[in-house]
Parts: sequence; C-alpha cells; structure tokens
Amino acid sequence: MAKDIAQQIVPNDELDDLIDGLKQPEKMISPKYFYDERGSQLFEEITRLPEYYPTETELGIMRDNIDEIASLVGKQASLIEFGSGSSLKTRVLLEHLDELAAYVPVDISEDHLLESARQIGEEFPDLDILPVVADFTQPFQLPSPKVMPLRNIVYFPGSTIGNFTNEAARELLQVMYQEAGAGGALLIGVDLQKDPAIIERAYNDSAGVTAEFNRNMLRHLNREFGGDFDLDAFAHSAKYNEREGRVEIRLVSEQDQEFSLSHASFSIEKDEAILTEYSHKYTLEGFAAMAETAGLRVKKVWMDTERLFSVQYLVRD
Ligand code: TRP
Repeated sequence: MAKDIAQQIVPNDELDDLIDGLKQPEKMISPKYFYDERGSQLFEEITRLPEYYPTETELGIMRDNIDEIASLVGKQASLIEFGSGSSLKTRVLLEHLDELAAYVPVDISEDHLLESARQIGEEFPDLDILPVVADFTQPFQLPSPKVMPLRNIVYFPGSTIGNFTNEAARELLQVMYQEAGAGGALLIGVDLQKDPAIIERAYNDSAGVTAEFNRNMLRHLNREFGGDFDLDAFAHSAKYNEREGRVEIRLVSEQDQEFSLSHASFSIEKDEAILTEYSHKYTLEGFAAMAETAGLRVKKVWMDTERLFSVQYLVRD
C-alpha cells in the first residue's frame, strides 16, 4: 500500500532529547514514549474504563449528530485524519460521509498506520485509502486521490489537541489549516472544562490502569534506551490545574534515588516528579479564540447533554 508516498522523517537524536528533558528544572519525558505495544494496549483499556468519559462521550456525539456532520462535510470530500484512524469514531464517519473521494490517515508510526489502514480497507473495500507516514506537526504533502476531492476535511478526534501546549496547539491548527486548503474544514474533538472531580477521576481510575500506563513509559525507556528505572519506586499522579485548565500527569519518586539512561545518570529526590503529559481542557470561548489565531472560525459545535465534550467544525475564513 502507498508506501511510495511515505514522507521523509528526519531522524532526530531521541536519546539526546530524552536526556535533555530529564535535565530540565522540572524533569520531563515526552508523552510519545507512552505508546509502545503494551502502552497502546493499556491506552485502549483506558478508553473503555467507566471513569474515562472522553472516548465514549465523543463517540455518542458523533453518532447522535452524524447526519448533520455529513451534510456540512458534503459529498466527495477527502477525509484526512491526523492520527492512525484505529477508532470507532472514524468508522462512524466513513460509514456516513457521502461518496468520499479518499481517506488519508496520517501517522508517524508506520506499522500501526499500515495495519489500521489494512483493517479499514477490509471493512470499506471501495474506499480509496492513502496512508501517509509523517509527523503531522510539520507540513506534509498530500497524496492525489483517483477522484478529485471537492473539499479536504481534516479530522482530529480524541481531544489529542489538548496534549499540546497552547503554543504548539496553535501551530498544529495552522498546519491543519494549511492541509485543509481553500474551502476545507476541520472536524475536531475538544474536551471541555468541567467539575475538576470528574476530570481527575478520568485520570485516576480505580482499577489502576492509568497508573500502569504512566509507569509503563519507564519500562519502555528501560528496554529501548538502556534505562534502569525502578518502576515500583514511582507513583502515578494526575492533578487538574484549574488555573491552567489542564490535567498534569506525573511520575513521582517515592524515595531519593538514582537512575540512568544509557550513559547518563540522574538523581531524583523523594516527592520530586517527572512530568509525562498535559491534557488541556477548554472553554468554548477559549478554544474559539485559539482557533481564530490560526485563521479558523468555529462554524458548529456539537456536545453531549452534560457538556462534557465537544466535536467542533472549523472553517477557513
Ligand atoms: N489523549 C489522552 C488524554 O489526554 C491521553 C491519556 C488518557 C493519558 N489518560 C491518560 C495520558 C493518562 C497520560 C496518562 O485524555
């Protein structure tokens, strides 16, 4: 499948970046290290937890409003998904959009991308599927579908936008604006600010899956980057910072200890933390203001009745 259209990925020195993050005043590890094979499985499990409201809520919003979504998208669009497209939400769209010109999933993880494209190909045999291996935070070249698309729709579910800092989210919206092209639009899942107790529960499930997911990152680094983290000596922490409107996910050292990553050694004190992810939650106004700085206007917002989550349709002005 379309491997020839794979974008070139500039190999940056991941180990240097990791070491650099651990030398910051607040130690940090990039959330991309969550997703090794076990991490991806654990995340799947998270999405099915009773406390983790985003996945099911977003799916419900899609199902409840799919006719209106389909009529805004119009016929013969090209659906460009930022991310590999393994979710049920994508399937709801693929089932209901009218005469899709193409489906273009974009992901940096080639194996994951091609496997999910293959599965979607089995389910939708008539669909022109054109996977692109690329880091979607940087502009990339779109493939040419057999049928000329009338409009590009950039799809970005899961409130993954919230895992970027505000500045990086703005830049990502600019890339999406560009990829959508003239007359194009974005369809994006955006998690909303709400009672902090609901948010904190979603990231501190009672079965401990989220804690395991967070700690698994250290197992990943031990295996792939010559680390010697003691997984049992780090505790999961997820707290909602109301002022910043974000969940801050950390691994907290339970004792004074040393660890190393390849040739580099570090010390960490008891109660000192390593930041592993932010998950921003937005107000409707706050998100609209951010989108506006990227040249995008919110045309339509769909929400669940409790206003936990939103799916938004953004157009280029
Ligand atoms: N994108 C997801 C989110 O922000 C990722 C996620 C869910 C996550 N649960 C987590 C990341 C726990 C770290 C720890 O909701």
